[in-house]
Amino acid sequence: MLKGKTAVVTGGSRGIGEAIACKLASMGANIAVIYAGNHDAAENVCSRCKEENGVQARAYQCNVADFSAVKDTVAKIKADFGTVHILVNNAGITRDGMLAMMKEEDYDDVLDTNLKGAFNMIRHLSGLFIRNREGCIINITSVAGMMGNAGQCNYSASKAGLIGLTKSVAKELAPKGIRCNALAPGFIATDMTEGQTENPLLKMIPLGTMGKPEDVAEAVAYLASAKYVTGEVLRVDGGIAM
Ligand code: NAI
Repeated sequence: MLKGKTAVVTGGSRGIGEAIACKLASMGANIAVIYAGNHDAAENVCSRCKEENGVQARAYQCNVADFSAVKDTVAKIKADFGTVHILVNNAGITRDGMLAMMKEEDYDDVLDTNLKGAFNMIRHLSGLFIRNREGCIINITSVAGMMGNAGQCNYSASKAGLIGLTKSVAKELAPKGIRCNALAPGFIATDMTEGQTENPLLKMIPLGTMGKPEDVAEAVAYLASAKYVTGEVLRVDGGIAM
C-alpha cells in the first residue's frame, strides 16, 4: 500500500518509533530512521525492516532539537532516497518534576526536543513536500497535551504545542496536497513508561490495560493512508482521555 514511498521516523530506534518504522516497512515503505544516540539499536531496526519486507532502510544520527543538524540530515536522506513522502515526528523525552522545583533546563530540553524538534523536521522537509504536492505528516503528541498531568508541565506544554502546530500546518499546507495529523497515545508500555506500573492513572483506563507500541503503529498506518483526514488528533489511549 506504501510501495515506492519513503517514510522518515524520528526516534525510530526503539519503543513506539521502532513499531512505527516496522509497520510502515511492512506496508512497503522505505524507511529513514532518525535516532539520538543508540547506533546499534537503530541499525537493528533497519535490518528488521529490510529483511522482513525487502524495503530500503537507513539510520541517521541526529538531534532533532538542532535546527542545522536537521537540515543536514534531511539533505542526506534526500540524497539517499531521492525524496520523502511521510514524516512521523515521534522523538520525545520526559523530564518530569513538580512545577515549583523544575529546573529551567528540564523545561527547555523537553520543549526543544518534543516541540521544536517537530518544527525543525517539518520546516526542512516542507520544501520537498510542496514541490511534490504530496506529503503526510504525523506528529506523536500525548493525552498529557490534551488533559494536562501533574508533574509534567513541560511535557504537557510541549505536547499541547504539537497539537497547535499540527492544526496550523494542516491549514497552511492543505492547499499544496499535504496532510498533517496528530496522534495522542495514552499509557503505552515502553522504556519511557517503565516503572509506571503502580501509577494510579492506569486504573482509569476504560479498556483496562496499557497499550502496546504496535497499537500506536496501527493508527499511524491508518493516518498514512487516510487521504481525506487532516488536522485531526487521534487518541490511542484505551479511552482514558474520553
Ligand atoms: P522512548 O523513550 O522509548 O523512545 C524515544 C525515542 O526518541 C528514542 O528512540 C530516542 O532516541 C529518541 N529521541 C529522544 N530525544 C531525541 C532527540 N533529541 N533527537 C532524536 N531522537 C531523539 O519513548 P516512547 O515511549 O517510544 O515514546 C515515543 C513518542 O511517543 C514520544 O514522543 C512520547 O512522548 C510519545 N508518547 C509516549 C507514550 C508512552 O506511554 N510511552 C504516551 C504518549 C506519548
